[in-house]
Amino acid sequence: MNIKELAKLEKEYIIKQRRFFHMHPELSTNEVNTTRQIAKELADMGIEVTTFENLTGVIGTITGSKPGKTVMLRADIDALPINENPNKNYASVNPGVMHACGHDCHIAMLLGAAKILSANKEELVGTIKLLFQMGEEIGVESKHYVENGSLDGVDAIFGMHIWSLLDSGFANFEYGERMASSDRFTIKITGSSAHGSAPQEGKDSIVAAAAIVMALQTLVSRINNPQNTFVLSVGMMNGGTQFNILAGQTELVGTTRTFNRDFRKTLPKLISDMASSVAQAYGCKAETEYCFFPGPVINEHANLNKIAREAVAKQMGDKALVHMDKMMSAEDFSVYMEKTPGVYGFLGARNTDKGICCVHHHPDFDVDEDVLPDGAGIYAQFAVDFLKTSD
Ligand code: NI
Repeated sequence: MNIKELAKLEKEYIIKQRRFFHMHPELSTNEVNTTRQIAKELADMGIEVTTFENLTGVIGTITGSKPGKTVMLRADIDALPINENPNKNYASVNPGVMHACGHDCHIAMLLGAAKILSANKEELVGTIKLLFQMGEEIGVESKHYVENGSLDGVDAIFGMHIWSLLDSGFANFEYGERMASSDRFTIKITGSSAHGSAPQEGKDSIVAAAAIVMALQTLVSRINNPQNTFVLSVGMMNGGTQFNILAGQTELVGTTRTFNRDFRKTLPKLISDMASSVAQAYGCKAETEYCFFPGPVINEHANLNKIAREAVAKQMGDKALVHMDKMMSAEDFSVYMEKTPGVYGFLGARNTDKGICCVHHHPDFDVDEDVLPDGAGIYAQFAVDFLKTSD
């Protein structure tokens, strides 16, 4: 099957789907109508559909004419709490909700791939699972599909993000570290209140918290090996009740980002020890809670990376493949990669000539829709080529 040509034929369908989902965005975990609509599209193609109780998202299963390996293609489907600027005729009709990250494109591209693959399933050896995943924007919702067994028996998983920082006509699939882990820590500092004019009578949790914020940066500059990429940011500091009262309680909330799985495991203790020691020096107590969110996205399976790159080259030409620096932002696709060998990449969709150059998560976000058939083709090509591999 010539997937590139087949993808071109689906262009109208893919763009129609993209615009439908763009107009009808739903927030993470709330993708009820989105799930229903995707399920209907899949069913109309004759694809076996699996939905879940208490979990949005849907899986389509395409079974080839002969048994073989199983490959999963993943698209995330949720939107963001952003009020879209109504500057396109397919702008969101749901106030305050917008597909500002491009997950509408992921749905449309995977539906396009579904059409191509289901129409040619007689040529397939093995099984293709199409995972339309809910809740990517809010943490690690992807874990639910691992926990409910959806990835059991899957030999490889493929994911990709439409990317507004890369020009249309280009794509990035490269070996190694791609996106960082993204964890959250909360530190509760307890001192004791007193009159603001008499600090010697209390223990000031705000001063202790300020010292902890500064001390935590030494985990980056003094404890971490400088060769290890690591970010620690405190984004929230809340404490106190009135200007003339010493704050008895202050809370810090922050995030850590790294690609190093072993170093990441040491962070809860490092942060907790630092916070406790500094708090103690100020006569206060600190309690630290550390939540592991998505781990790093690392393309560490050379064979899958090669298949993905060849899939891009077949759809868009060799020159489409470009380098992109790794990013400190995160993606819960990593949860699948911890269970199943996977590969993750990016499809450029910026086109300044067409005035499409707005960044993700912005009320003017848009993509060059001409790249969407390429995306559908890459999905389909990866699946077909992976199923042909023998090892
Ligand atoms: Ni996204």
